[in-house]
This record gives sequence, C-alpha cells and structure tokens, in this order.
Amino acid sequence: MQGWIIPPPKEPAKSKEEFKKEREEKVRWLINQCFLTSNRIKDAMLKVPREEFVPPLYRDYAYLEVPLPLPGKKATISCPHSYPLFYEPLGLDKGHKFLEVGLGSGYGTALAREIVGYRGLVVSIEIDQLTFEFARKNLKNLGYADIILVRGDGGLGYPAMSPYDRICITAACIEIPPPLIEQLRTGGRLIAPVIEHGVQNLVLLEKSEKRIIRKVICEVLYIPLSGKYGGK
Ligand SMILES: C[S@@+](CC[C@H](N)C(=O)[O-])C[C@H]1O[C@@H](n2cnc3c(N)ncnc32)[C@H](O)[C@@H]1O
Repeated sequence: MQGWIIPPPKEPAKSKEEFKKEREEKVRWLINQCFLTSNRIKDAMLKVPREEFVPPLYRDYAYLEVPLPLPGKKATISCPHSYPLFYEPLGLDKGHKFLEVGLGSGYGTALAREIVGYRGLVVSIEIDQLTFEFARKNLKNLGYADIILVRGDGGLGYPAMSPYDRICITAACIEIPPPLIEQLRTGGRLIAPVIEHGVQNLVLLEKSEKRIIRKVICEVLYIPLSGKYGGK
C-alpha cells in the first residue's frame, strides 16, 4: 500500500448507528465530489454496510478514504470513492452479467450484486486463498448467496459464464489480459488500472464489432495483478 498512510490497528468501538451515519455522510460527499451520479450505485452504497467487509482491527476506519489491509498476501479493501470511480464509467446497471477480477473483501462484489439486481449476475475471482475465504464469509454473513465466487487466476477470466456485459479488474495490470477482452460481449465495457510509463492509469475499454475504443479516466494507485498476466 505504498503511497497511502494506513491508520494504526485498534479494537472496534463504533455502533451500527454511527456506521450508518458515516455511510450516509460518505454518500453525500461522493455526490458532492461528482464521483457518484447514478441512483442505482447511490442506493447500493447506502445499503451495503462497508464496515462488515473490514477486519475488526480496522473496522472503525471503514469510511475513511484509505485502502485497508485484508487477510492474504497483498489484498486491500479499496477506498470508498474507488467504487463509483470504476462503476460509473463502466455504466454498471440492472440486468448486467458482471465479472470482477480481484474479489478482495467482497464489498465491491456486494455493491455490484445490488446494482445488477435479480436479473443480473455477478461472478468474482480471487487468487489468494485467505482473502477468498474472508470475502466468502463476509458475503455469506450478509446473505449474498447467489454470487459465483471463484478461487483462481482472474487474468484467465471465467469462460463458463461468458460473455460478460461488464468486467472490472481491481488490481493494476501491465496489459489488460487478452482472455478478459475475449470474454467481453460486443458492446460491453471493461475497466482496469493499467501501468503505463511509470504511472497507473484507470483505463476504460468499449468493445464494438470492429474495434476496441480505449479511454483513460484518471491516474490511480492499486496493488499489482498477480498470476499469468501479472507483472512480478
Ligand atoms: C484492491 S484489492 C480488491 C478490492 C476489492 N474490490 C474490495 O472491494 O475489497 C485487489 C485484489 O485482487 C486480487 N488479485 C490480484 N491478482 C489477481 C488475479 N490474477 N486474479 C484474481 N485476483 C487477483 C488481490 O489478491 C486482491 O484481493
């Protein structure tokens, strides 16, 4: 988590009511800062209790704009603003079949499940066994029973459920893994942090019949993707 100052671990002390208030304040802030514009994403962020996806010793910091450590080798739960930052340009919406690479805590997965609704589908892949188990437990505790959770290398995608309407990679890649582009539906969109010229750019791809349209959204800072398409 180079580049971020992580607050020190401490026993959790905040009540459910305090977290709810912080969640509502965070959503207002995200709207004011123009990160959050669509109602479906707003409703999901108001509904999903982010604190339930944060390990106890960091739980009180759940709504701070910092990534927080998770069980596993390198995993973090991303800052709250990361989710609308990715999901708004992706245009994630009702009915979409969504693939997430990098399950982490399961928080982004739960938000996606709320956004796509019951006609949609969410598949999420995590490479680290400890992180995977942590997320699976978090999602189960909150009653998210119909998300397809896969333990493996997300760079390879999950062809069994492809093609996907939307794909989100939550770790920084050197190149966007070609299997993920193949598994994207024509007309679909993919978003990922990509390492270019020493910085990470958040890149949005739109796949049309004839070509891939590429747009850089902004600079970001994510942990590197591992696996077949990882850097080191
Ligand atoms: C920034 S974290 C994800 C945060 C997550 N979206 C959340 O809401 O907590 C990135 C995750 O990608 C995972 N990861 C890295 N390389 C991967 C790969 N090749 N396949 C699947 N997961 C990978 C890491 O273990 C880590 O859990």
